[in-house]
Amino acid sequence: MNKKRKLIIAGNWKMNKTVAEGLALVSDLKIDLANVKEVDIVVCPPFTALESVSKAVLDSNLRLGSQDMSEHNFGAFTGEICAGMLKEFSVRYVILGHSERRQYQKESDALISKKALAVHGASLKPIVCVGELLAEREAGQTEKVLETQVRGSLAGLSKDQMVETIIAYEPVWAIGTGKTATTQQAQDAHAFIRGLLVKLFGEAAAKKVRVQYGGSVKPPNARELMSQPDVDGALVGGASLEARSFADIVKNSI
Ligand code: PGA
Repeated sequence: MNKKRKLIIAGNWKMNKTVAEGLALVSDLKIDLANVKEVDIVVCPPFTALESVSKAVLDSNLRLGSQDMSEHNFGAFTGEICAGMLKEFSVRYVILGHSERRQYQKESDALISKKALAVHGASLKPIVCVGELLAEREAGQTEKVLETQVRGSLAGLSKDQMVETIIAYEPVWAIGTGKTATTQQAQDAHAFIRGLLVKLFGEAAAKKVRVQYGGSVKPPNARELMSQPDVDGALVGGASLEARSFADIVKNSI
C-alpha cells in the first residue's frame, strides 16, 4: 500500500491483563511482528503493567502507550497518573477521551484538550478519540458531533502539536459490538475530520495527521479499512488481547 502517512496500529487492552498475562502477550507479539517496519505498532496496557511491559518491549519494534493521563503535572489528585510517571516507563503515546471515559468518567472535550496540551508538554503523542453514538448517527448528526468533539478536544493545540497528534475515529456503536462501520462510512468520517483539520490547522498540517479507525477491527476487515485513503491505522480493543489476532491485523494492513 502506498500512503504517505505511516500506519499506526494500537492495541488498547483496557482493564485487562495482569502483569504476567501482559508479558506473555508481548512476548508472542515480539516474535510474530519482529519484521514489521511499515507500521508503528503500539500496545497500551493498564498502568499496573506498564513497567514490566516497557522492559519487555525495549529491544523490539513495539512502542508503549497509556490509556489515559492527568492534565496536571503533580499534586493532590488521588488516583491520577501524570506525564512524568509515564515517561519513567518510556511511554510514547497516550490515549485520550476514549468513549468509555467520555461515558463513565464524564470526560468533556474541554478536559480532553487540557490533557492533550499536557501530553504535548511532556513531548508525548496523544491519540485523541472522537466518535458518534448510534442515536446521533441515526439522527443524521454524525458530522455535527464530530465537529464539536474535534474542535473542543483539540482546542489550543499549535500546528506543530497537531501534526504530532493522532486522532482515532471510533463510532461508539461499533466499539466492542462486532459491528464495524462500512469502509465507506469510515472513509467518509475520516475525510470529514481531515477537512475540519484543514480549516483549523491548514492543509499542510492536516495532510500529516494520522487518523485511526476504531470499532471492532478484526483480521478479516483490517485490510479493506486500512486501504481507504484517509484511514491511517487502527485502534483495536478486543482483538488486541490475543497475539494472533492483533498480529494478523497488523500484517493484513501492510
Ligand atoms: P473494540 O474496541 O476493538 O473492542 O471494538 C475498540 C476501542 O475501544 O478502541
